[in-house]
Amino acid sequence: MEKYDRMKFATRAIKAGEGPDPATKALNTPIYETSTYAYNSTHEFEVGIEDAMSWQPGACLYSRSTNPTTIALERKIASLEGAEDAAITACGMAAVNLALLSSLNAGDHCIASDDIFCCTRSSLEDILPSKGIEVDIVNVIDIANIENKIRPNTKVIYIEALSNPRLELADIPKIAELAHKNNIRFIVDNTFLSPYLLRPLEHGADMVVHSGTKYVVGHGDALCGLVSGTKEMVDRIRYYNDNLGTHISPFDSWLALRGVRTLPIRLKAQCENAFAIAKYLEAKEEVEYVYYPGLESHPQHELAEKLLPNGFGGMVSFHLKGGYETMAKFVDSVKLMPIATSLGDVQTLIHPKQHEGNLIRLSVGCEDVEDLIADLELGFANI
Ligand SMILES: Cc1ncc(COP(=O)(O)O)c(C=O)c1O
Repeated sequence: MEKYDRMKFATRAIKAGEGPDPATKALNTPIYETSTYAYNSTHEFEVGIEDAMSWQPGACLYSRSTNPTTIALERKIASLEGAEDAAITACGMAAVNLALLSSLNAGDHCIASDDIFCCTRSSLEDILPSKGIEVDIVNVIDIANIENKIRPNTKVIYIEALSNPRLELADIPKIAELAHKNNIRFIVDNTFLSPYLLRPLEHGADMVVHSGTKYVVGHGDALCGLVSGTKEMVDRIRYYNDNLGTHISPFDSWLALRGVRTLPIRLKAQCENAFAIAKYLEAKEEVEYVYYPGLESHPQHELAEKLLPNGFGGMVSFHLKGGYETMAKFVDSVKLMPIATSLGDVQTLIHPKQHEGNLIRLSVGCEDVEDLIADLELGFANI
């Protein structure tokens, strides 16, 4: 156990996994831009190869496998997730695919949720089946849908904790119970909440993945993926990460390290702003419905109160009365919120989703909420 692991979340976000650099005493983790590492003798080199290929902690042989900047990030993420270990990948999709590929073989069966990130859906519906893995997609909010699909060869249940874009909250403890009763690995993508708001391993999940690109990096300036679980599971992820070449660059690891130190502070502001915006939107007669787990009108609000004691997240989706033209007019009228995909940035992003029934998704940032609401007013004034 790391010395910071008993401390609280914000302390771990700043301190865990890092310390003065042993080689230089640099207080902040340096960016180790090196592809390879030099050894003093043939014997040392042989031992180095063996250590690196068996994923001994801290062993560095070649930066596709391990790199000191990335190791610091791995340790910090493991500490924040309350996991035995964590691996870092080039982006969230690498994390999602390595979690699935390292858990499933040809002939296996996977049950996954229907409200899920589009590229994950492509993997589940197209890439995995083309390699002989069967997949059933169901709405996981009703657990009976999962139960009905379980077969003897079911090896994985895969969900997003808070789904995209409907912001449905899955009952992780109940799904974990069902999975373990049937000897099934339960994998949760927790991108929309971040480890500050929810740590699925504490609720029975076996493996957690994130697009670290989002809340963990937090500033929209790097791509990054995270996978946490037992050391055995994570070593298997490392094996795939190394051999498929889906590793992160040391510079992006450094950006993620710098970003994640302020995760709790950013998330607190984002949750507060998002809740205020959700209430503001719900009161507008031009709005048909708002999805936000903090609202009493949200179908899983009670569960959200239990699972999300630190806040209900920074994502708000809503639907205006009217069709595509109304949505487009509204979105084109706001000035402070760039029209952009992605989420978790310190600045608010607005994402019109015509293929999801003209839904508007806001990734609420850390700006002053009065300015954000004034900006949304411009949208309402123009429809
Ligand atoms: C829930 C979820 N998982 C995974 C990903 C993929 O992450 P990345 O863009 O870092 O590859 C995304 C991207 O938006 C996402 O929203």
